Amino acid sequence: MERWSSRTGFILAAIGSAVGIGNIWRFSSVVGQNGGGAFLIPYFLAVLLFAVPLMLLEMAVGRHLRADVVSCFGRAGERFKIFGWLICLILLVILSYYLVITGWTLAYLVFSLLDLKIAFSLFTSSMQPVACFLISAIVTGAIVCLGVRRGIEKIVSTLIPFAFVILLILVLFSITLPGFHPGMSFFLSPDFSMLARPGVWSAALGQAFFSLSVGMGILITYGAYLDDETDILQSALVITIADLAVAMLAGASIFSLVFTFGLEPTAGSELAFTTLPGGFELMPHGRAFAAAFFALLFSAALTSAISMLEVNVAAIMGETSMSRTKASILLTMTGILIGLPSCLSYSSVDLNLDGSKILDLMDETLGTIGLPVAAFLIAFVFRWFTDNDVLSHEVHITESQLRLLSLLINYAIPVALLIVMVSRFIDL
Ligand code: PHE
Repeated sequence: MERWSSRTGFILAAIGSAVGIGNIWRFSSVVGQNGGGAFLIPYFLAVLLFAVPLMLLEMAVGRHLRADVVSCFGRAGERFKIFGWLICLILLVILSYYLVITGWTLAYLVFSLLDLKIAFSLFTSSMQPVACFLISAIVTGAIVCLGVRRGIEKIVSTLIPFAFVILLILVLFSITLPGFHPGMSFFLSPDFSMLARPGVWSAALGQAFFSLSVGMGILITYGAYLDDETDILQSALVITIADLAVAMLAGASIFSLVFTFGLEPTAGSELAFTTLPGGFELMPHGRAFAAAFFALLFSAALTSAISMLEVNVAAIMGETSMSRTKASILLTMTGILIGLPSCLSYSSVDLNLDGSKILDLMDETLGTIGLPVAAFLIAFVFRWFTDNDVLSHEVHITESQLRLLSLLINYAIPVALLIVMVSRFIDL
């Protein structure tokens, strides 16, 4: 099995997976809808008490068993393999529509480089989204096909530092804008009464797992390529801090722009592809800022997509005798087939079901329910049916810290995830 060439290579790949569209636009809209600054309390708690412990478990299991997700489940018992495949399927579905959005970011990067001003509604009533989706899928497949060192590590070592520099420039610029203070107070002014709502806590847990790419077997897969010397706890903290920092900095600069140029503090794709491009047009050097912003989004999305595909490719390679090249081609094609309906729902075909776009439906159903299901299966099987020494072998912490970690993973995390799952099922 291949290995990362260095600890930095692993950390950059894990940050690449964590930092994605989720940080740049999902975080700010979730914060806005769930009590502003007050939301940070449940969010930090969810990150610290739930996401980081599960991240440690995933990395420990991956490195200890040195295998893909499905084989790791298989080691716990042949009957659990099906759970591994289920997680792969959930990831493949998420990947399929994530690549559609990656394609949009690519299109807007190209538009801003060419100085073309194309409204989002015009873009999505053409067939351009399909072309961009296909390009994004093929690029993702090609990088995974090149392997852990020559493909994934090489690309994250370039794109992640590049993305951080762009973000820093955007932040420094936004601090100088008159909208910075009103933007920050919109983004962060706390509404503590929201904390009484259980939905806010469930949103915090969902966002923490989604943003850190925890609970999907990604860190099991990436952990399997990790050398024995790397400190897992330290790595987990670096990844978490980087992810949180990107989310906060992106939120700060986005709202600063929104308030400086009198835009609507909307959310999601509307914000990224309609509102902000409107703002960039009003700015000095707006074209360069637009290109920088979409380059950041595209890099973040691409490195997350790569991690989702790698989990699947590793599983097929581990469970069959298929080569990396064949597995990458097969899974990229499958991802394209599954993603096509989502992609067509935002194109001139306007594919929809009772007026709801397929992409939104996929995200609201499989995307939303899939994550807690996958995370629950990982916490449950790898704590209750695997050798209990995995954590103590791989994570170097004191006895009492280990006891606390075990309590969280054995009881608190599965119970919290069950509650989230049930409440999401009821909401569907
Ligand atoms: N963490 C990524 C983001 O913030 C999304 C992601 C989710 C990636 C699940 C992999 C697995 O956008």
